[in-house]
Amino acid sequence: MLSAAHPTAQLLVVDDEPANLDLMRQVLTRAGYERVTCSGDPRDALERLDDLAPDLVLLDLHMPVLDGFAVLEQLAERVPAEQYLPRLVITADSTPQTRRRALSLGAHDFLTKPIDVVETTLRVANLLHTRALHTSLQEHNAQLEQAVRLRTWELERAQHDVTVRLGRVAEYRDDDTAEHTNRVGATAAALARAVGLPPDEVELVAAAAPLHDIGKVAVPDAVLLKPGPLTDDERAVMRTHALIGARILSGGSSRLVRLAEEMALSHHERWDGGGYPSGLAGEAIPLGGRLVAVADVFDALISPRPYKDAWPVERAVATMRSERGRHFDPQLLDLFLAELHHHSPGE
Ligand SMILES: [Fe+2]
Repeated sequence: MLSAAHPTAQLLVVDDEPANLDLMRQVLTRAGYERVTCSGDPRDALERLDDLAPDLVLLDLHMPVLDGFAVLEQLAERVPAEQYLPRLVITADSTPQTRRRALSLGAHDFLTKPIDVVETTLRVANLLHTRALHTSLQEHNAQLEQAVRLRTWELERAQHDVTVRLGRVAEYRDDDTAEHTNRVGATAAALARAVGLPPDEVELVAAAAPLHDIGKVAVPDAVLLKPGPLTDDERAVMRTHALIGARILSGGSSRLVRLAEEMALSHHERWDGGGYPSGLAGEAIPLGGRLVAVADVFDALISPRPYKDAWPVERAVATMRSERGRHFDPQLLDLFLAELHHHSPGE
């Protein structure tokens, strides 16, 4: 006696002949299968498909109302391809045409009536074995995907951690709380969202913007911390931070570092072409640089600096507005002011 390798598998037999159903139930039960459901009505079987959750369908081809081909068609529509549900076709009509048609509709194997008990048991066992392999492969894949997701998340966290701390390096000497860098990151990201950039790019902006002044590590304290206006020479030294920052960040392979490089290089360009280091104008200035320009200048205006007090927001807004189309991308500035208005308290 052959014993079932998967005795608890759910087997669904669909045949309009009660005698055939009885025979099949007997064969399968004797082979050790504990859960055999027989249906004389394919419409009813299809209706209950989700509840029955079969591991194998044994299907008669020639049935009134809904024949086996139609059942195969419906199964193909309803059962997702990645869910391997074997369909074993049982037919007295084993012409090549019939087999080809059934195969093309998703049949996996055939039994010819009158059925042979041993052959039936072996084919059922084979198909259930294949299904079990398929299921365990899918579970394994799901576990791998989960592991990859976790690992990716850890890597992203690590990248984020390093980036944030690298941003602090730049600010440490004149802003040891890194508040300015963090706020510029948040403001640039909010502006990126307002522009309509997709969420993953908004995140990149948030992570890259705090690095825009990384080149300041190379600016001497005497210039960086000077309480008062800079001389022309000192200003020239100060301005090198854009190029130096870009050089520090250059050659990166990630989108994040490339964007940070672009921001470091271009955040002091002006819309009217009067900025540095390249004197780019309008949309020739990379969007990243234009976003940081707005966020950076606004935050500098409302923060205390060695050479100035913190300005009230209204004064900063008036100055920003007067630079619309001069220092700033006019569209970005409009969006920024609208955002600011929207989020200011009491509005
Ligand atoms: Fe800067």
